[in-house]
Amino acid sequence: IYQQSRLISSSEPIKAQVQPEVSSGSASFHKAPRIIHQGQSDKPTVAILGSGWGAISFLQHVDSTKYNVVLISPRNYFLFTPLLPSCPVGTVDEKSIMEPVVSFANKKKGDVTYYEAEATDINPNDKTVTIKSFSNINSISPDSVNVGLQANEVAQIKYDYLITAVGAEPNTFGIPGVEEHGCFLKEIPDSKKIRHKFIEAVEKANLLPKDDPERKRLLTLVVVGGGPTGVETAGELQDYIDQDLKTFMPNIVDEIQIVLIEALPVVLNMFETKLTSYAEKVLRETNIDLKTKTAVGKVESEYLIAKTKKDDGSIEETKIPYGVLVWATGNKPRSLITNLFKKIPEQNQANRGLIVNENLLVNGTNNIFAIGDNAFAKLPPTAQVAHQEAEYLSKVFSKISRIPNFHENLKSSTKPDVLFEENGIKPFKYIHLGSLAYLGAEKAIANITYGSRSFYSGGGIFTFFVWRVLYVSMILSFRSRFKVIADWTKIAFFGRDAFKEL
Ligand code: FAD
Ligand code: NAI
Repeated sequence: IYQQSRLISSSEPIKAQVQPEVSSGSASFHKAPRIIHQGQSDKPTVAILGSGWGAISFLQHVDSTKYNVVLISPRNYFLFTPLLPSCPVGTVDEKSIMEPVVSFANKKKGDVTYYEAEATDINPNDKTVTIKSFSNINSISPDSVNVGLQANEVAQIKYDYLITAVGAEPNTFGIPGVEEHGCFLKEIPDSKKIRHKFIEAVEKANLLPKDDPERKRLLTLVVVGGGPTGVETAGELQDYIDQDLKTFMPNIVDEIQIVLIEALPVVLNMFETKLTSYAEKVLRETNIDLKTKTAVGKVESEYLIAKTKKDDGSIEETKIPYGVLVWATGNKPRSLITNLFKKIPEQNQANRGLIVNENLLVNGTNNIFAIGDNAFAKLPPTAQVAHQEAEYLSKVFSKISRIPNFHENLKSSTKPDVLFEENGIKPFKYIHLGSLAYLGAEKAIANITYGSRSFYSGGGIFTFFVWRVLYVSMILSFRSRFKVIADWTKIAFFGRDAFKEL
């Protein structure tokens, strides 16, 4: 049943209850937000925030017959981020890496309620999350039977356990001009924006004479940040230029220049030196202008200012005109999370994410768990980490549901760590399975491991196929796997289609 922003995965009757004393009448006239108690009272309510790697992996594995599961996210689909850099140029279609929340919820044995809403505040003292509906659909049913939200309605969801998995947001380090003029690559609309801006810049440049400096500016595409997002995006754009744009616009293609700027001396610094050197060689061979030891400090609408550290220690300042700017310098916590830092004394020192204990329980609480990029567990902010944390936590939830009185004991416990240990719940252990990155020109680098044991480390065309096989195997649904393979097959025969307006 899909009702408004609410989704129940089985044919069970609606069980969410609206606190009657809070309000009545049309939702749009509520003075105080409604408080919504979810589902059957004999089962604890687990509210999950997000629909990304952490949240959806947890949803997939949690035993929903033991809990009332509520998922809250403004994005009604899961996004397979590892292939997002392939989207702006159409190597992979955006829809191929999106999987609706409903597909995952429908596979659960118990009920799952989904709110297409943004969590705006977490209130640990009264165990509620304030949410604001993201849907612009209003219910036509009377308010008394409607447990979904009206457009823009604010409500509070009561929880017994909260799993925060809202990820992080792009970090601009406060550099002026980035928000206004740069494109990030974090979500689907970002991919569309890059494509639109890039093709528009090429079309505009095509109308200008060859020696016009404005033509050169428009055809300069700058990517800032030589981490995996920046490198993969630069590589994909260069592929599009070399393999497809060449046939559409042969007169202009040689003039397009991609510039990749990285503040550190090397790109992809999570890889060993042998692989980063190989990556730099491939990037330079494919005509990407790689500028390392160069930090961007200011962005204007048509140029940016970068400072390069020279070998003699001096600093050289350069003005780099650009037509399109992609900004990929890493992430910072969302305001929902930084606000929570202030509400929990044990989190006052937190800055990168919620500090969690070995069971992923947020320090200073006994009912909030954090997974993925919004957690600080001294691990890198990757899908791999978020996925493993979510799998672990779902097992913990299964286990504690079988221990008599565990929920009650945890509620009153002042030492939750001890309670977990006494009940034989093992700490989370991350097993690093390696890192992979696509470089462009059908070359990738990979370091495949199992914990501290390394199985493969290399770069090149063979690694590119390894990269493809492993990425397809990581996709969370068969439907998406099929679509991605179909996209790759399609471009092998017909090339990419990257229309500006799609
Ligand atoms: P996310 O997956 O970002 O999910 C966050 C969710 O929270 C989203 O659904 C969002 O809509 C939702 N949300 C946001 N705000 C709110 C709110 N206020 N209330 C409720 N919900 C909210 N990692 C790898 O391991 N391998 C890779 O190859 C790889 N490639 C990547 C490529 C790109 C382009 C990017 C950007 C990242 C890549 N990563 C990769 C990193 C990986 O995507 C993240 O580490 C991972 O997504 C973290 O999972 P998460 O669940 O914490 O956050
Ligand atoms: P990142 O944090 O890994 O890299 C950002 C880069 O930008 C850094 O190298 C930094 O030195 C540089 N930088 C910062 N400020 C700068 C400035 N002003 N000027 C120039 N350079 C500047 O960020 P990224 O690539 O977005 O990745 C985020 C997370 O997602 C990482 O944990 C990464 O491992 C993961 N990821 C993994 C992928 C993969 O495994 N293939 C692909 C994409 C992301």
